Parts: sequence; structure tokens; C-alpha cells
Amino acid sequence: MHPSRRPIIGGNWKMNTDRASGAALARQVAAGAAAMGQAAPDTVVFPPFVYLDSVAAALAGSPVQLGAQDVYQADHGAFTGEVSPPMLRDVGCRWVLVGHSERRHVLHEGDDLINAKLLAVLRAGLHAVLCVGEKLEQRLTGQTDTINERQARSALRHVEPQDLWRVVIAYEPVWAIGTGKTATPADAQAAHAHIRAVLADLYSPHAAAAARIQYGGSVTPANAHELLAQPDIDGALVGGASLKPADFLAILAAAGAGKA
Ligand code: PGA
Repeated sequence: MHPSRRPIIGGNWKMNTDRASGAALARQVAAGAAAMGQAAPDTVVFPPFVYLDSVAAALAGSPVQLGAQDVYQADHGAFTGEVSPPMLRDVGCRWVLVGHSERRHVLHEGDDLINAKLLAVLRAGLHAVLCVGEKLEQRLTGQTDTINERQARSALRHVEPQDLWRVVIAYEPVWAIGTGKTATPADAQAAHAHIRAVLADLYSPHAAAAARIQYGGSVTPANAHELLAQPDIDGALVGGASLKPADFLAILAAAGAGKA
């Protein structure tokens, strides 16, 4: 494995928690990650916008990093209801999710918008988790690699080679998100290997070998180890299980052990 591919685990809290429970969850994750010491993977939590500030305070002094679930592509202006990359940086975010399947398929974000958001995140000096993944009917008709490739190529348009290290790709099959269904380790590995090949074609074999690609979709302590042991799986983006501190910490431990 390339030395730059330190395992990375994200906890996407989605539209869950409140001020008190979010801060408590953050404190538990921070304490658990601190107890793992050097064995802890890179760890990022993605709370709802309104709790970023209180979660940032709860994480103060911890190696656990803060991320936002979405962003708007302009820095400021008349965009009622939106939040900009500099605002996210201002409250202590280092990471932003871009192109999550719920943004694509529930909120109808298209490839051009996702590309604009990714460019805005990078322009602000932030890091991105770019999510890609196929729907069930696309998998069943053999389109998994085509869809992942189209989403990755389109989102990465105009992303310069020197900025690619700030992009983690999350492969999240839509049918596996929040359903309790997981891609088999072999299917996930195959999808990751194809995404890495796309990066090699778009950038270089060296850049592709250094890029981190997470798996997401019903990751739990029970399946994390086997998924994370795959050669092209560099971490996990975790939804439901990230709300349960013991489960999320067990996934962190699986990541630390899996690539040791
Ligand atoms: P899940 O969500 O772990 O609940 O399937 C994953 C995600 O949406 O990132």
C-alpha cells in the first residue's frame, strides 16, 4: 500500500443528533480515538451544519477532524439558506462531503453542480470526500463501473493534479446506503480498483496509487474488517453506525488493525 494511504474513517451523521447529543457523541469519539493513539486511523465526523460549532468545541484538542455534509459553491452573497466554504473553514471544518447519494438522488444535485462544489471546496483550501456510486438497477444491468467512472470524471473536471491529494473518493453503492445491505468485499474491491484506474488515466499511475478511496454503505463492526482488508479500500464512510459510539469506535479499530 502507498504510504500516503493512511486509513480514513468518516462518520456521516446526516440529519441526526441535537446540540447535546451531538456534543456528547463527539466527546466519546474523541476519547476513543485518543485511547487508540497511533493506531487510530484518520477520523472525521460530519455533523449537521447547525451543530458544527458545538461539535468543534467538543473536539478541541482531539485528533478527530470536523467535516460538513454539504456546501454551496460561492464564497458569499445572495444565496439564501446556503453555507460557503470560507464559513465552514471559519468554524473549524477541514472536510466537506460532496456528491453524497442523498444529495444526488433526494435533493437532485447533478454532475455539474457537484463539480462546482468540489472546485469551491478545494479553492478554499479544504479537503473533500467525493461520493460516487451506482443505483441497484444500474448494478443489475452491469453499469457499476460506467456510472462510477462518469461521476468521478465529471466531478474531477478542472481539479488540478496538485490538489488531488485533498480529495478522498467514497464509493457508496446507493442500494447499500442505510439498507443493511453491503457490497461483498470482492465487489467493493472491484469497484475501487476501477475507480483507481480512472484516476490513473485522468492523472497518473503515481497519483492513483496515492489516492484514498473509502467504501460506504451499511458498514458495521461486523463487516468492517473484511472490507477494509481489501487492497484498494482505504477506509469507510459510515452513516448509521457512526451514531453509536461503540460501533463507530469498533470500526476505527478495524481500520487501524486492517492496514497495520
Ligand atoms: P449507512 O450510510 O452507513 O447508514 O449505510 C452511509 C452513508 O450514507 O455515507
